[in-house]
This record gives sequence, structure tokens and C-alpha cells, in this order.
Amino acid sequence: MIYHTPVLLKEALENLRVKKGGKYIDATLGDAGHTIEILKKGGSVLGIEINEGALVRARKRIEEENLSQNFIGILGNFKNIEEIANDNDFNEVSGVLYDLGYSSFELDYGGFGLSFQKDEPLDMRLDKSLGVTAEDLINSLSEKELSNLIFNYSDERMARKFARAIVKARNLKKIQTTLQLAEVIKSVSSPGYERGRIHPATRTFQALRIAVNDEITNLEKSLPRAAHLLLPGSVIVLITFHSLEDKVAKDFGRSARSSVKEIFEKPITASYEELEANTKSRSAKLRVFEKIK
Ligand SMILES: C[S@@+](CC[C@H](N)C(=O)[O-])C[C@H]1O[C@@H](n2cnc3c(N)ncnc32)[C@H](O)[C@@H]1O
Repeated sequence: MIYHTPVLLKEALENLRVKKGGKYIDATLGDAGHTIEILKKGGSVLGIEINEGALVRARKRIEEENLSQNFIGILGNFKNIEEIANDNDFNEVSGVLYDLGYSSFELDYGGFGLSFQKDEPLDMRLDKSLGVTAEDLINSLSEKELSNLIFNYSDERMARKFARAIVKARNLKKIQTTLQLAEVIKSVSSPGYERGRIHPATRTFQALRIAVNDEITNLEKSLPRAAHLLLPGSVIVLITFHSLEDKVAKDFGRSARSSVKEIFEKPITASYEELEANTKSRSAKLRVFEKIK
């Protein structure tokens, strides 16, 4: 089985300062890459995961490592972290970890239509109880709404042009798959788009994932709730992958109402070795918040 390569693993564990017998919440369990290391160090973990398939994979992996004894896996959204923690007697914890975004498995093989590596229905919902799919947004928002969504959630400078092309294309034929959408965007992007470093549809797909899964609101709701669960002196370790998530993190640390303070002035980023080994670590930023009151 091929698993997601955990990003900033060493840095996350160092900052969580895992203690034998300590209780930790992994708010984004994924393939349990971080959780397994916490369990190996003698911590107990409550893992929260929104994608049922991912939770099944993680449970199986943890079982294979013989580490199930101190692990509880819950299907849920981290925006409900406090309730989930209270229900599972994890209301006074030594650390909470967030490794945001999606696992490689979800992005490349998950069948969610999250990326354009494969032609899949434009769904993007990790949680199927959410009402609106990416297909709904692409085919029903006005040109202006689409342009705003793409720009606001990804800083895509060609948002207006892409929105216009999407509306034109959908008037001829409904846009229902990832490759259909990627092609529409590519057909109107400039040849030198980002000097070829990324596909022209990359940022639009990011914007759609954020909108469909309500990523920003989930994080804004979750962080103060996680802070309530921390024992004095313990920490939230948060790994973000795009500037909007990182802004929520920074604001959380600076808010006067916050019961935490950010420990480092600047976020921790991947080492040269990690950057070489795993391109997904390029945009990762790790911030640490310590409980102060
Ligand atoms: C980058 S992966 C985590 C990888 C994990 N740290 C590892 O090393 O295997 C992020 C995970 O968070 C999950 N996720 C995203 N949003 C979530 C939310 N609101 N609540 C709970 N899980 C969420 C995704 O389904 C994905 O499995």
C-alpha cells in the first residue's frame, strides 16, 4: 500500500513535545502518518477524519502497526472538535495537530474530482452530506460570482478571463468533469502562464475545493475550540498549504480574545532535503500556538 508522505513530520513532532501517556488530537488524520509517530512515542491519539474511506485506511494501517490500543478514530469534521473531544474523553489534551488540505491519495485516486490528474466527475465534496458540488458552482454561478470565487480563494490573476470562458463553454455544454474544466481554462490562458511552472487550472481547482468544502470557515471555527481543549503550556501545531489558511492561522494567534500565543515569529518551512524529496512540502508552513490562559 502506498501512503501519503507526511509533511514536516519531524518539525511537527518536535513542537508537539509528545509525552508518554499524553493525549493528542490529530484533527486531520489522513493516512495517519503523523498519528503513528505520536503513538510510537507513547501518546494516545484521537484522530478526526472527514473522509470515511481515509478513516478506514488509517485504522487498518494503525492496526497493522499494532498501535490501535491508544487510538480512537472518529468520522467527523474538525469544526466540531470540541464536541468530538468531549464525547471521547479528550477534553484536556497535551496537543492538537492540523495538517490541512488533502492527502495524496484523495487528490490523485480518491474519486472526488479534486484535481485534473484524472478525468472524474466535478464533485470535490469530501463529505457527501454537503449540498453543493463543484459542478453545481461551475454551472450555476453568474460570471461575476465565478470570477470572484476564483480570485478570492486563489488570487488567480486571470480569474475574470477564466470565468468568462467557463460561462461561454457551459452555454454550449454542461461542464461535468475535471478534464473538461481544465481544458476550458487552458484554452484561454496565455502560453507563458506562470512560466509553465503550474497548469493554468491549478489555482481555479484550489478555489473550488476551498468553496465546496468550506475550508476557511471550518478552520476559523475549529481553532478557538481546539484552544479550549488544551492543558496550560500545551500547543496547537498547524500546517497550512495556502495563504488563505495561513491568514486564518495568523489572525488566530494575534486575536486579543485568543487564549494562545504564537511561539515563533515566522512559520517553519520544509528543509532543503524535504523540499527535494517531496514537492508537496513546497507550500507548507507550520505554526505553533501555546496555551497561555
Ligand atoms: C494532508 S491530509 C493529512 C495527512 C496526515 N497527516 C498523514 O500524514 O497521513 C489532510 C486530511 O484532512 C482531512 N480533512 C480535510 N478537512 C477536514 C475537516 N474539516 N475535518 C476533518 N478532516 C478533514 C482530509 O480528508 C485529509 O485526509
